[in-house]
Order: sequence, then C-alpha cells, then structure tokens
Amino acid sequence: MAERGEREAFVTLATNDTYALGCLVLGNSLKQRARTTRKLVVMVTQGVSQSMRNQLARVFDMIYDVNLLDSRDSANLQLLGRPDLSVTFTKFHCWRLTMFEKAVFLDADTLVLQNVDELFDREELSAAPDAGWPDCFNSGVFVFRPSEETYNALLQFAMAQGSFDGGDQGLLNMYFRDWATKDIARHLPFIYNVVSQAFYSYLPAFTQFKDSVKIVHFIGATKPWHHPYNTTTKEVTPLPETGHNKDYLQIWWDIFMTFIQPTLDPSLKEQMGGLIGELAALSLESGATYGGSQEHLSEQERKLNWERGQVDYLGADKFENIEKKLNKSMQGPAASSKTYAASPFKNISVTSKATEQKQPPKE
Ligand code: UDP
Ligand code: GLC
Ligand code: MN
Repeated sequence: MAERGEREAFVTLATNDTYALGCLVLGNSLKQRARTTRKLVVMVTQGVSQSMRNQLARVFDMIYDVNLLDSRDSANLQLLGRPDLSVTFTKFHCWRLTMFEKAVFLDADTLVLQNVDELFDREELSAAPDAGWPDCFNSGVFVFRPSEETYNALLQFAMAQGSFDGGDQGLLNMYFRDWATKDIARHLPFIYNVVSQAFYSYLPAFTQFKDSVKIVHFIGATKPWHHPYNTTTKEVTPLPETGHNKDYLQIWWDIFMTFIQPTLDPSLKEQMGGLIGELAALSLESGATYGGSQEHLSEQERKLNWERGQVDYLGADKFENIEKKLNKSMQGPAASSKTYAASPFKNISVTSKATEQKQPPKE
C-alpha cells in the first residue's frame, strides 16, 4: 500500500489569477515553513491564465481543472456582504479527488505557520468554529474524504435547499448539520483556523495563545495582496480598519517576496496589467512601493465597510465621488447605474464558458 504521503493531500482553489497568488503563498507556506509530507493540489477554473498555471506547477504536485460552480444566490450573499462568493460552490469539486483517501481543504487566503499534518488523523467533516457564529464551522479549513457519492449528494442538496449564506459555508453547515453537537473530535481547535481579526474581539486570549496558532485565515474582502508593501523597508503597512494583524501580513509578504515575486515573469506587467502586473514588476533594488488598494471592493462591500465605520476617504469614498453620487441620485432612479434586486435564483448551475467569462477577475 502506498505511503500516507501519497494517499493524502492538501487542496486549495483559485478561479482567477488573483486568488492564484494566494494559492502560491499558501503552497509555499506548506512546503517551506510547515515542511508537509503530503501532496499539494490546486483546483483551477478557466479563469486562471496559462502563465499563472506555470507558476502554480512549481509548487503544487497537481493542477486539477474544474468547472465553475456558481450559486447565483445574490439575495443570501448580500446578507454576507460578499457578492463575489457565489463561485465558492466550486470548492465542492474537491470531493471528486478520489485518487486520495483523505484530504484537507484550505482557502487561498490561508497561511500555514506550523506543520499541521496531524489533521489527517481526523475524520470527515472536521473543521474549526466560525468566529462569527461558533455553532457553525468555518469552511476555509476542513478535513474530508473524497467521494463521488458525497459530491453528487452535495449538488443535489444545493439544488434542493440553496445555501443560507449563498456560498459553500452555509451549504456545508446544513449538509453536515450535526457537526456542532455529535462528536467533539470533529471540532478542530481554533488554532487551525484563526481569523486574522479575531484578536480585536478577544485580545488577551490572542496574547496568551498566539504562539500556538497553526493556520491564519485572512477572511473578508481585503486580502493580504491588497495591503501596501514597501520594497526598501520590506514592510507591509496594514490598511487601516481592516483589522488584519501586521505580523501575519508580514509573514505572507515575506513568503511572497522571497519565493514567488522573483519568479514572476516581468512581461506579466504588459500582458496582464492590474494588480498582478504591478506585483510582477516590483523589484527590491528599485526601492519601489507597491501601493495596495481598496479598489477591489465592490460598491456593496464599500457600503458594508462604511456602515462598520471603515471609510476609504482617499479612494472610492472621497468627497468628490460622494458628491457625484448624490447628484446622480437626485436626478432620479433612471440615472442610477446599479440596483441590487434580490435574485430569484436559489439553484446552483454549472456555468458555461460564456457565462464564466462574464465574471470579471476579482482583483
Ligand atoms: N475563491 C476563488 N475566487 C473567487 C472567490 C473565492 O477562487 O472569486 C476561492 C478561494 O480559494 C477563496 C475561497 O474561494 O479563498 C473562499 O473565498 P474567500 O476566502 O474570499 O472568503 P472569506 O474567507 O473571505 O469569507
Ligand atoms: C466564509 C468562509 C469561506 C467561504 C465563505 C462562503 O466566510 O471563510 O471559506 O467560502 O464563507 O460561504
Ligand atoms: Mn477565506
């Protein structure tokens, strides 16, 4: 029988090049920092470019092509404030990796700080509590057993029920609904999925236990690659109000600048522009600063941040833009460019290539 190292794998997902950057840092954290002995798999959709796939192939043992699965459940996703998360149903493809006996799924915005290979001793479905509602598990880190049967059952369930948050986490919590009560062994300790803002709700606990944290999760619309980084001081400056812990962001950027950025093809700047192009063109010698941005936030996410008191005064929320918006609204509803009507769709659908291309890559 094959070694466990062959039969077990860590799995992650990217539907576009920006999340693929996250996968690259995650993969490197598993290999260089945590020294895992298990296989690394990244699931990708057509939204990931060939050049990014070549990068991923340097770190991951397997690049697994999947179709985009989209919940299109905009009504529930609005509750979460993250319209971009409808594509997270694509995660369910991980159950089809039946060449492995057991696997651990990790979101592309997680970072592994210490070896976590002991997770493979747990059973399906093991996960850590969600910091926002601890009777639900957070689906950014979970242990599972690949099985076509489970994959089909999940899709059936999705079509019958929909997801209460419009993304994978709501659905998985309904499908594995006895997680909170049945078996404490399936409750992973919080150190396996510490949201990087948790300290602000319980700072003394963070101070006490921070050295035992094994996996950090940068949940929310602002990700590590959105924060400004200075190539002279080699320091990241956390965007104010995101609540992200600076030490963890710094580890993310150290891995990125050491193992990934030097290997990015500088011609990516011309080919791709945007955030990836800018990152590819960064050079430690030039003393350039990567500006970071909140430009990636949708109008809805900005609204949510605004309501939380997180206002982007220098960018999208600057007075000039607010004034423009006020003028537009005063001209009546026909002039307003966006409305957020609740969608009647609750079902999932496997999107065609054409629909998939309509989704702009989220940067
Ligand atoms: N994801 C992706 N493309 C997207 C949105 C999400 O590939 O446009 C994947 C990616 O692996 C990501 C996961 O789905 O880490 C869940 O989304 P995210 O981490 O942004 O959700 P959060 O943890 O912030 O709630
Ligand atoms: C969560 C999880 C993420 C999941 C999303 C949508 O906040 O962190 O992994 O994809 O919800 O359900
Ligand atoms: Mn995440």
